[in-house]
Amino acid sequence: MKPDNILFICANERSNVERESCGVTHKSFLLSRVFKDECKRRGLQIRLRVTSSGCLGPCNEGPHAVLMPNNLWFQGFTEDDCSAIMDTIEKNIL
Ligand code: FES
Repeated sequence: MKPDNILFICANERSNVERESCGVTHKSFLLSRVFKDECKRRGLQIRLRVTSSGCLGPCNEGPHAVLMPNNLWFQGFTEDDCSAIMDTIEKNIL
């Protein structure tokens, strides 16, 4: 099955810890789990796939995530923001 929308959550773990990376600096793999659980809880799995990704590009002031194909970006969020972000996503997915 190919969902129409994908939320990519950067989980890049840069070995040079002096440079910010979503996976190391912000433990985004844990946030990815929160988004996946929230997607399931809302019954959105048919329309939305949540997946971890490599570096999305911006890196600083992370973590970073992007909803495609909307090209809707999220940054600097914590676990406390995930529900509000999913509200935004739910309003914007096909
Ligand atoms: S390390 Fe996450 S956007 Fe580059």
